[in-house]
Amino acid sequence: MAVRIVVGAQWGDEGKGKIVDLLASEADVVARYQGGANAGHTICHGDRRFILRLIPSGILHDGVMCILGNGVVVDPVALFEELQGLRDQGVQTEGRLMISPHAHIIFPYHKLIDQAKERYLGENQVGTTQRGIGPAYLDKIDRCGIRAVDLLDRANLTAKLEKNLEEKNKILRAFGAAEQPVHPMIQQFCDVGERLRPLVVDTVAYLHRAILDGKEVLLEGAQGTMLDIDHGTYPFVTSSNATAGGACTGLGIGPTLVDRVMGVVKAYTTRVGNGPLPTEFEPAFADRVRNLGGEFGSVTGRPRRVGWLDLVQIRYAVMVNGINELAVTKLDVLDTLEELHVCTEYRANGKPVDLSVADARTISEVQPMYRTLPGWQAPTGRVRTLRELPKPARDYLQFIETSLGGVPIRLVSVGQERQETIRV
Ligand code: GDP
Ligand code: IMO
Ligand code: MG
Repeated sequence: MAVRIVVGAQWGDEGKGKIVDLLASEADVVARYQGGANAGHTICHGDRRFILRLIPSGILHDGVMCILGNGVVVDPVALFEELQGLRDQGVQTEGRLMISPHAHIIFPYHKLIDQAKERYLGENQVGTTQRGIGPAYLDKIDRCGIRAVDLLDRANLTAKLEKNLEEKNKILRAFGAAEQPVHPMIQQFCDVGERLRPLVVDTVAYLHRAILDGKEVLLEGAQGTMLDIDHGTYPFVTSSNATAGGACTGLGIGPTLVDRVMGVVKAYTTRVGNGPLPTEFEPAFADRVRNLGGEFGSVTGRPRRVGWLDLVQIRYAVMVNGINELAVTKLDVLDTLEELHVCTEYRANGKPVDLSVADARTISEVQPMYRTLPGWQAPTGRVRTLRELPKPARDYLQFIETSLGGVPIRLVSVGQERQETIRV
């Protein structure tokens, strides 16, 4: 039996897609447990590039079953586009995707409210992906969300949509945004329901059977620890539990069934959207590393903010996720840097700051304390064993492991492609 969670240890975009795709060659099932089309998980195979937003990053392996759990918010428009895109690139998706009947559905008004709210917040905005994620989870918590199962019964869908739209139109009106007529939406989502019907199955039972049968199961997180609604830099977070606990609630699996939690750590730090980023580079150096790492949002194209590796933040991620193995990605991006700084402590007024209790404002004002390590200034993209890595690169990895209390690095990624990986 092997059930492994793959979780982002920073602010998202750590390279989860590449790592899950790599591990999926030995898996039977890959399940997404939270988030929605705010995610963008990139997988590169030669000249083919896939950006998966909803579909689990196991889909490129024939025979791997893919699940969208109850914790995911499903935008059917994005889902159908993504399925079509995969088919156009020759990926066989038929019979390989399952959706929980309890997964909540994103409606057009969720996206409109997300956009209107951000406009309203102005300079205080979160910088969301405007995919309707927050408003859809808000409905879920408010107990008025519409779930995949609700799309399968016209009368039920009609009643729920009429009730919701009455309220949503009031909100849209208050924000000065366009109101939405109910009837075309009922028809549109009845049609969506018919297209989804074959995919909506009991994913909890399926997963449990797979686990009991000893199958290899990967639970794929979206976003990252510092964007988690409970454990991230609130309020600059997404609206779900991206941390490992979310895998249990978002799929209906008890914690006793999980064997391993792999934290994906980018060899430096990035963040999209607003909120604190203590190790952020000054603009000219940020441009340099952003270009080296191709750090532009895979969904929105926004330039990502960039900074040094932050071990205070990753230590916290190890704690709140129970991370017991690591994948370090994008080591090659640092190949040309003369020296590397790694944050080992936060201070304010000369005193250490504990990230576990600090609020976003405090975090945005801390002084990061750095340890400086030499760069290796040699290409690592073709390296496939730890031994072949330049000594300063091995020391960098060793420093990470040691600073995290010995959590082992199992994978080191040195390029976008599956094979550009060192297995430790
Ligand atoms: P995710 O959301 O965590 O799956 O990450 P994204 O796909 O949004 O962003 C990671 C980006 O880095 C993608 O463009 C990947 O193709 C790329 N990438 C992943 N691992 C590596 C690596 O080891 N080296 C380099 N140079 N690029 C990588
Ligand atoms: P993956 O899975 C990086 C960020 C947004 C914004 C905040 C809230 O590719 O790592 P939302 O639309 O979720 O309400 O936005 O979260 N964000 C991400 N940043 N990677 C992601 O996903 C993200 N998904 C959301 O930029 O700051
Ligand atoms: Mg991404």
